[in-house]
Amino acid sequence: MDLYEYQARDLFESKDVPVLRGLVATTPKEAREAAEKLGTDVVVVKAQVKTGGRGKAGGVKLAHSPEEAEQRAKEILGLDIKGHVVKKVMVTEGADIDEEYYFSLLLDRANRRYLAMCSLEGGVEIETLAEERPDALVRVPIDPRAGLDADAADRIVTETGFSPDDRDEAARVLTLLGKTYAESDATLVEVNPLVRTSDGRIVALDGKVTLDDNAAFRHPEWDQWRDDSQDDPLELRARAKHLNYVKLDGQVGIIGNGAGLVMSTLDVVAYAGSDLPGSPTPANFLDIGGGASAQVMADGLDIILSDPQVEVVFVNVFGGITACSEVAKGIRGALQQLGNKASKPIVVRLDGNAVEVGLEILDEYDHPLVTVEKTMDGAARKAAELASAAMEGK
Ligand SMILES: Nc1ncnc2c1ncn2[C@@H]1O[C@H](COP(=O)(O)OP(=O)(O)O)[C@@H](O)[C@H]1O
Ligand SMILES: [Mg+2]
Repeated sequence: MDLYEYQARDLFESKDVPVLRGLVATTPKEAREAAEKLGTDVVVVKAQVKTGGRGKAGGVKLAHSPEEAEQRAKEILGLDIKGHVVKKVMVTEGADIDEEYYFSLLLDRANRRYLAMCSLEGGVEIETLAEERPDALVRVPIDPRAGLDADAADRIVTETGFSPDDRDEAARVLTLLGKTYAESDATLVEVNPLVRTSDGRIVALDGKVTLDDNAAFRHPEWDQWRDDSQDDPLELRARAKHLNYVKLDGQVGIIGNGAGLVMSTLDVVAYAGSDLPGSPTPANFLDIGGGASAQVMADGLDIILSDPQVEVVFVNVFGGITACSEVAKGIRGALQQLGNKASKPIVVRLDGNAVEVGLEILDEYDHPLVTVEKTMDGAARKAAELASAAMEGK
């Protein structure tokens, strides 16, 4: 999950990283009130969108009075920045900036460690800096077991070339950012710019934070940051049911067990559909994992069948620890639970543990919507053909 700048600001503040005061506003009037509350001579109105380069796009503007803040907010709200429409602004204190630096700490997967990057030439886009002035960007590998501790921070500020006057304070702030990274299970903390103000403070002026969704279970506090308005409604429903579902654009709903099998099912279906009229493609990714109980199957089918684009569902299960007999019972139970809500054909391919019993159960149940196919390729073909025919019929 990526955080908005104002959320990153709040997170930084909670970890004692020096930041500027900032208030969120969703209307120009709220922006004026925020500026009044801040009470500084200069405020900055900043678009809250999850993309960089807001400054260049006209999404960061100074205001010298609450009235002007209202006016600037009016200009910024609704602006389209690289495909992101601005719905919120943050009103912050205006800083008197002496210097702008760059700092980031990120997960370096390839080398199985963290990487800190720092530069005295911040404020510009990091990609540009890395390309045009690679020497100006210092890279320091960080041992994840130690994290960005005081020693590492010293090394970073020394190598970067902070002036002796600023070194201690810069190192202190970097350590706090490292602490934020570790304690928040982040995969990225980027501050561009980190600034030195005219009164000598080192302050995080902008913040970009990516949190590792795999750690969400131990961070109930993240819920307050989740921005459901940007998410697909079917994905939201699936998340509420703890289903591993990703919405795609096609017509063939997919249910499988195990991420690998589901991924290859997507490929096989896309291939099978490629030479058919309408070229049907997968409508979703859904991995029901080990369980595959009637309830999970019903929840999965329910969500897939709520997708108006879906013409057919392909259930592809390889029984390992989960017996196919249980999966078959799951499909039967799901269809009984859904009743008339189940209205699209369902192609089933079962194999592996207890496949005979599973197939017998489906055979006996003899539901008019269910077709059983022996092989994965055959089932993919069948599902793609049914989807193609339904698309042609429209
Ligand atoms: N509170 C502030 N006070 C003074 N200048 C600011 C303030 N916030 C941003 N700026 C200036 O605007 C530039 C861009 O702002 P920033 O928050 O980094 O947005 P982005 O990276 O999306 O362009 C900064 O590099 C800085 O020069
Ligand atoms: Mg920035």
